Amino acid sequence: MTESSQGLAEFFTLDHRRCDSSWVEVEAAAEAGDADAVKQSWRRFQSGLSKHLQMEEEVLFPAFEQATGMTEGGPTFVMRSEHDQMRGLLAQMNAAANAGDHDELVDLGDTLLMLIQQHNQKEEHMLYPMAERALGADWAKIRERLAAY
Ligand SMILES: [Fe+2]
Ligand SMILES: [Fe+2]
Repeated sequence: MTESSQGLAEFFTLDHRRCDSSWVEVEAAAEAGDADAVKQSWRRFQSGLSKHLQMEEEVLFPAFEQATGMTEGGPTFVMRSEHDQMRGLLAQMNAAANAGDHDELVDLGDTLLMLIQQHNQKEEHMLYPMAERALGADWAKIRERLAAY
């Protein structure tokens, strides 16, 4: 499927997979004891995940909320609070990465990945399909805004 024919659910789901595989690189670098590679791959993972959360919070969720009228207590409300939990872990992980504590980084990463897995399941099986139905006609415009990230 080409980029332009990519639907909403596919776009965000592929980004989940990219974040997953970029975490695998952090783990591999930590396992190999390669401090430079840990630093670089950690930065890539952190910025990729942060960008994903921002695209959802700043573009997708507001568009979904506007189209469906579901705000407080709706699915995006839950997703936003899970993003906050992820950011808390990211901050702790960043401190571990800066301190060169790879064991701590990977341990916290296990917790983060568990959280991400459950979160992504909900998005991929519930939120994205709902958003695709609610926003289908606006997708081209939304996709353009996401390109700025
Ligand atoms: Fe999310
Ligand atoms: Fe997501």
